Amino acid sequence: PRLLVLLLLAWEGAWGAVRDEARETAAVRALAVRLLGPGPAAAFELSVERTLAAGPGADVFELSAEGVCAAPSGVAVAARAAQTTCGTFCGCHLSLPRPLPPVPGQLRITETLPTLRYRYYQNVCTHSYSFVWWDWPRWEREIDWMALNGINLALAWSGQEAIWQRVYLALGLTQAEIDEHFTGPAFLAWGRMGNLHGWGGPLPRTWHLKQLSLQHQILDRMRALGMTPVLPAFAGHVPKAIGRVFPQVNITQLGSWGHFNCSYSCSFLLAPEDPLFPLIGGIFLRELIREFGTNHIYGADTFNEMQPPSSDPAYLAAATEAVFKAMVAVDSDAVWLLQGWLFQHQPEFWGPAQVGAVLGAVPQGRLLVLDLFAESQPVYTRTASFRGQPFIWCMLHNFGGNHGLFGALEAVNRGPTAARLFPNSTMVGTGITPEGIGQNEVVYALMAELGWRKDPVPDLLAWVSRFAERRYGVAQPDAEAAWRLLLRSVYNCSGEACRGHNHSPLVRRPSLQMNTAVWYNRSDVFEAWRLLLKASPKLTTSPTFRYDLLDVTRQALQELVSLYYEEVRAAYLHQELAGLLRAGGVLAYQLLPALDEVLASDHHFLLGSWLAQARAAAASETEARLYEQNSRYQLTLWGPEGNILDYANKQLAGLVAHYYAPRWQLFIESLADSLARAAPFQQHQFDKDVFLLEQAFVLSSRRYRSQPQGDTVDLARKVFLRF
Ligand SMILES: *[C@@H]1O[C@H](CO)[C@@H](O)[C@H](O)[C@H]1NC(C)=O
Ligand SMILES: *[C@@H]1O[C@H](CO)[C@@H](O)[C@H](O)[C@H]1NC(C)=O
Ligand SMILES: *[C@@H]1O[C@H](CO)[C@@H](O)[C@H](O)[C@H]1NC(C)=O
Ligand SMILES: *[C@@H]1O[C@H](CO)[C@@H](O)[C@H](O)[C@H]1NC(C)=O
Ligand SMILES: *[C@@H]1O[C@H](CO)[C@@H](O)[C@H](O)[C@H]1NC(C)=O
Repeated sequence: PRLLVLLLLAWEGAWGAVRDEARETAAVRALAVRLLGPGPAAAFELSVERTLAAGPGADVFELSAEGVCAAPSGVAVAARAAQTTCGTFCGCHLSLPRPLPPVPGQLRITETLPTLRYRYYQNVCTHSYSFVWWDWPRWEREIDWMALNGINLALAWSGQEAIWQRVYLALGLTQAEIDEHFTGPAFLAWGRMGNLHGWGGPLPRTWHLKQLSLQHQILDRMRALGMTPVLPAFAGHVPKAIGRVFPQVNITQLGSWGHFNCSYSCSFLLAPEDPLFPLIGGIFLRELIREFGTNHIYGADTFNEMQPPSSDPAYLAAATEAVFKAMVAVDSDAVWLLQGWLFQHQPEFWGPAQVGAVLGAVPQGRLLVLDLFAESQPVYTRTASFRGQPFIWCMLHNFGGNHGLFGALEAVNRGPTAARLFPNSTMVGTGITPEGIGQNEVVYALMAELGWRKDPVPDLLAWVSRFAERRYGVAQPDAEAAWRLLLRSVYNCSGEACRGHNHSPLVRRPSLQMNTAVWYNRSDVFEAWRLLLKASPKLTTSPTFRYDLLDVTRQALQELVSLYYEEVRAAYLHQELAGLLRAGGVLAYQLLPALDEVLASDHHFLLGSWLAQARAAAASETEARLYEQNSRYQLTLWGPEGNILDYANKQLAGLVAHYYAPRWQLFIESLADSLARAAPFQQHQFDKDVFLLEQAFVLSSRRYRSQPQGDTVDLARKVFLRF
C-alpha cells in the first residue's frame, strides 16, 4: 500500500505539473491575443515547458525555426517572446509590423545567474498613488505589462482591509471603532504601514466587496502566468479600540507622522511579547489564506518611517521576531518580504546594532529585503549585503506619481551589476518600486531590460536612439536626436539633485524663496522640443510620439515658469511694478492657461479622467463624493491642512487651470499690492489666503471633461511659436 500511495502521489505530482503547464500556456496565449489580436497572435506558438527550468534564476528559452517559443513559465515565455520578436528582429514597441518577419532559425538563450532570479514590481505606495481606483480591465493591462517585462514577484495587496474587517469584528470591535481606524481608499498605503488611521475614511462596505472580487481576479491571473504574488501579513499595528476590548493588552502609541497630529497619526503598536500578537497575526493570516490561498511570501512593514519606541537592539529583535513567528505559525514555509526603506530614511536611528538586530531576528534566507531606492541610496553597501539576507536591488525613481522628466539612467544602468559584483553579494534579483507610475517610460524600459541582463547596457546613447525607433515604429533622425538630448540632460541626473521629486515652482505654493535650480541645461529641453516638432510631420500618426511631444512641451513650459518666476522675483526685489506685472502676467495668465490647453488634448493628462475613475469606483453618490474628495486631497493638500502639501503633484488639465493658476495669480497680485502700498510682502498672510483657494479646490464638486479635446501637435506648435 505504501508503494501505491507513493505512485499515486508521483502521478498526482506529474499530472499537476502538466496541468500547470497547460494553464500557463493558455494564459500566455490569451495575453498574445489581447495584445495582438487573434490573427497575428496565431503566428506564434507559445508554450510553457517546465523541463526548461534549470534551477533558481536559470531559465532556458527556445525559439524554433517553426516559430515555437518555449520557456519554463508563462512570464518567461511572454517576456522572451516580446524581447526576441520585438526587440531583436522587428524593432517594434507597441505595434507589430504586418506581416511579421520570418523567424530567423533556431535560437536558444540560457540564463543561469542567481542574481537574475527575481524581477520584482511595486511599492506599497503605488497602490494609493496609482492603482487606487482601478477596475479589472485596468489591472488586466497592468498584469499584461508585468508579464511582458518578466515581472515574476509582485504585491497583491488589494482586499486586505476586507479580511481585517472580519478579524476586527471577530475580536469584538464595533463597526464605529473600525471606521475610525481605516483610512479612505486614497490613503490606504499609509494605513497599512501604521503611519495613519482614519484620514479620508471610513471605508464603505461596498469597497470591501469590490476589492475582494478584484483581488481574486488579480491573483488568478498572476498565478496563471506563473508570477508569485506577495500577500500582506500582520506587522503589529492595531486599532486603538483593541485597548477597550482587551484592557490588559500592552500597546504603545507611536509618534506622529508626516505633519499629521495624533487625530490621524500616532498609531498603536502591539508589544511583541503580548500573547495577542501571535493571536491577531495568526487569525489574520489564516483568514487571508482561506480566502486567497498563498504563494508563501508575505510583506509587512512595522517601522516604515515610524520611529520605534526603543532603539535597544533587544527590543528591535523581539519586534521583528514576533512578526515572523506569527507568519510561520500559520505557514511553515513563510518568507518575509521587507521594504528596506526604513534603514535609508532614518539613518541616524538605524545604526549597525539596530539594523543588525532586525536582520538577525529572522532565520537566514527567510527575510527577503527590498533595497528600495538603490539607484540613489543603496543600503546593501553599508550593511554587508543585508548581513547575508537575500536582497533585491530596486529602482524607486518616482515619488508621489509626479510628472516631470527625470531619471538617473547612468546610475540605474550601472547599479545592478555593481550590486552583483559586491563582495559576498546576496542579491537575488532586481525590482521596480516607484511610488507612482504613468511617467518617464524610458526609465522603466531600461530597468525592465536590466532585469534580464548580466552587464549594463554598453552604450546608452545608442540604446536611447533605438528606444525612440522602437517607440515610434520607425527610425526618425530628429526624434532620435531629441532623445539623445533628453538622455544627457533630464535623464542623466547624478548626485544630490536626484531625489526624483518635482520641485518646480509651477507645482509648489509660491513664495519669494523658491529654488529654480535644475541638474541639467534647460537649453537641451528646449532644443529637444524643437526637434520633436520638426519630426512631427513624419510621426503624427504614432500615439506614443504624440504623448512624448505633449510631455516635452509640458516640461518646456515648466522650465519657462521657472524663468518667468525668476523675473517676477527680481522685479519685485528691485521694486519695478511694471516688470513684475509683465512677467507675472505671462506666467499666470498665459503660460499656465496654455499648459492647461495642451494637457487637455491627451486623456493621460486630464483631471476629469482621474476624478471619473474615482467616482466610477463608488456605488452611490455619497461614496462618489467621498472618493472624489480623497482623490483631490491626494493631488494637492494631502491632509486636512496641507500636511504634505503638493507631494503628489501632477500636471493635469483642470488642475493647472483651477489649482496652480489661481494661486499664482494671487501671488502676483499680492506682490503687486505690496509694491503699490510700499508694504513688505507677508508670506504667512499669503499662506493663509492661498490655503483658502487650495481648500476650495479640494471641496469643489466642479465636473471636468474626461475626453481629450484639441490636437496635440497643433497646440504644441502654437505654444512653441508663441513662447
Ligand atoms: C489635530 O489638528 C486639528 C486641526 O488643527 C485639531 O482640530 C485637532 O484637535 C488636533 N488633534 C490633536 C489630537 O491634537
Ligand atoms: C510593554 O511592552 C514593552 C515593549 O515590549 C515592554 O518594554 C514593557 O515592559 C511592557 N510592559 C508591560 C507592563 O508588560
Ligand atoms: C566574504 O566571505 C568570506 C567567507 O565568509 C570572508 O572570508 C570574506 O572576508 C568576505 N569578504 C568581505 C569583503 O566581506
Ligand atoms: C552623464 O553625466 C556624467 C557626469 O555626471 C557623464 O560622465 C556621462 O557621460 C553623462 N552621460 C550621458 C549619456 O550624457
Ligand atoms: C547650455 O546649452 C546651450 C546650447 O547648447 C549652450 O549655449 C550653453 O552654453 C549651455 N549652458 C551651460 C551652462 O552649459
